[in-house]
Amino acid sequence: MSKTKPAPLPPDTLIGGYRIVRLLAAGGFGLVYLALDAQGREVAIKEYLPAALATRAPGELLPQVAPEKQALYRLGLRSFFEEGRALAQIAHPAVVGVLNFFRENDTVYMVMDYLQGASLQDFIVTARGRQRKKILREATIRSLFDEVLRGLRIVHQHKMLHLDIKPANIFITDDNRAVLIDFGAAREVLNTEGTFVRPMYTPGFAAPEMYRRTGGAGLGPWTDIYAIGACIYSCMQGYPPHDAPQRQEKDRLVTALARLRGLYSNELIDVVEWCMALDPLSRPQSVFALQRELAREAAAEPEPTPSGWWERLRARLGLAQAQAPDAASHQSQRSSFLEPP
Ligand SMILES: Nc1ncnc2c1ncn2[C@@H]1O[C@H](COP(=O)(O)OP(=O)(O)O)[C@@H](O)[C@H]1O
Ligand SMILES: [Mg+2]
Repeated sequence: MSKTKPAPLPPDTLIGGYRIVRLLAAGGFGLVYLALDAQGREVAIKEYLPAALATRAPGELLPQVAPEKQALYRLGLRSFFEEGRALAQIAHPAVVGVLNFFRENDTVYMVMDYLQGASLQDFIVTARGRQRKKILREATIRSLFDEVLRGLRIVHQHKMLHLDIKPANIFITDDNRAVLIDFGAAREVLNTEGTFVRPMYTPGFAAPEMYRRTGGAGLGPWTDIYAIGACIYSCMQGYPPHDAPQRQEKDRLVTALARLRGLYSNELIDVVEWCMALDPLSRPQSVFALQRELAREAAAEPEPTPSGWWERLRARLGLAQAQAPDAASHQSQRSSFLEPP
């Protein structure tokens, strides 16, 4: 395992006709850049470069992969490419748009719509800091997951699973869309000793079947639905739930949810419990089933969904100021951000 992270491509590097502006984020599996296309339009480009398998010296274009890691590197690369191909077929406001994907520099690049905003995780962390009783309001949670589920349903219709749904991978754009990012197909094959292995699951959001080393068997829409339940839980509680192995040992979910009763409707709390059933068969089996249940309850819900709820939430959380400096500079160019709803 290499100790140093692969160096990002420097600003002004040209790849596939796109010009790199700067690095946006560096994760374990790749690097995300802001770039400009030939028309000068901003795009986000994700470069496949798993830190565990490849290195790159500063100023170099090509990753270095040790001979014994070549096979795995190639496997991940193909999978990343397939992820791009599959995502490119989906056009939905709640799923990050893939504009292009191509091979270059011995790796693969996925060109996406450039999203400006903050992750749901940022919102939760900010809200947590306020130390109020409620992290997010129920109407906000319902509107948010209504959008996310519409996107997820399309993803499942395309025979894909996300497998890493968590607040950090739900992006809230400045124009008030909830967008699923970071589709983890590439992760499916990485970090293995030659065999098919589970993704780098995020504790708290990964369903119990994700921990079983049985290839893809047992995974299905219900696996993403478990993660959705855990995300809703986090929006109410401010923290992720205990991870699945802990729950299998001693399950405190019902106790934790009981503390939320009174603050949130019993219906929403029951939906979380349903989604997070340890037994996959006891969960909603499809996004449609879950949507139907949430819609049924929403009809009974006395509190109407406010319009402009994200603006109000942002304003209340002071997220305009709390943004990372680079994100804030984009926002300052946008007039919509804190306009009164
Ligand atoms: N399309 C995009 N537009 C803007 N920023 C993005 C986009 N995709 C990813 N990012 C940024 O890069 C970070 C990492 O991307 P992600 O796809 O989640 O990969 P990973 O978590 O595997 O490193 C995100 O949290 C987000 O900040
Ligand atoms: Mg991510």
